Amino acid sequence: MDWNQLLFVVFPYVSITLFIAVTIYRVKYRPFTISSLSSQLLEGKQLYWGSIPFHHGILWILLFHLIALLTPKALLLWNAVPIRLYLLEISGFILGLWALGGVVLLFWRRMTVAYIKAVTTPMDIVVLLLTLVSILTGVLTAALYRFGSVWFTGVFTPYLWSILTLQPRPELVAPLPWLVQLHLFNNFALLALLPFSRLVHILSWPLDYLVRPWQIVIGMVSRKATK
Ligand code: HEM
Repeated sequence: MDWNQLLFVVFPYVSITLFIAVTIYRVKYRPFTISSLSSQLLEGKQLYWGSIPFHHGILWILLFHLIALLTPKALLLWNAVPIRLYLLEISGFILGLWALGGVVLLFWRRMTVAYIKAVTTPMDIVVLLLTLVSILTGVLTAALYRFGSVWFTGVFTPYLWSILTLQPRPELVAPLPWLVQLHLFNNFALLALLPFSRLVHILSWPLDYLVRPWQIVIGMVSRKATK
């Protein structure tokens, strides 16, 4: 077995298996632990400026990835007109930078705000770092190896389907530059850790965060305590 097989066949299957098995375990036996364990009450300002750009950026980017995986022909058809290709690539890039700025701030907040540091676990730091690497390598891939929305459909769509249909074709990703391979590998690492970390809250599809009204948290302080 060579490195290529190990990184792009064995590792993806280990990640997918862990993701499915541990997620089922958590949903069945630990349903009340499926949460992002919000730290909004400890610090709100930096959380707002980190979390909102990160979520708005990343949800759109992941939707674009999903479209490339599920309907590659529609994407190629869209990209057949140059202005539409530029529009997609430029908006993807801006959204990527938007998400990157958000995740950098979230990481900074975890490392510098004392209250947040006190409730931060090693797993929080690992998933934040992996998310940072995912977004950074994605944005760099888009900048250095242009028109990814075109070549994704020729390389990653068949590769990902080959993994999902249990007929792995690692030779499709073997010739890619190391940066793009790192993007792929890192995302499988994120998938493996997802059910072990607070990232598991993704499963509760908190899409209403994008449109929900402001949440006002009101506390009660007794008269005695204020004197
Ligand atoms: C195995 C799954 C994935 C594959 C094969 C993949 C592949 C790619 C490719 C080829 C690009 C370049 C797109 C372009 O130039 O238009 C890209 C961009 C990007 N990816 Fe991924 N990706 C995957 C999963 C993820 C995940 C899970 C994240 C986030 C956690 C992510 C975040 C990004 C970002 C932020 C960009 C930059 C978007 C842009 O500038 O257009 N990717 N990805």
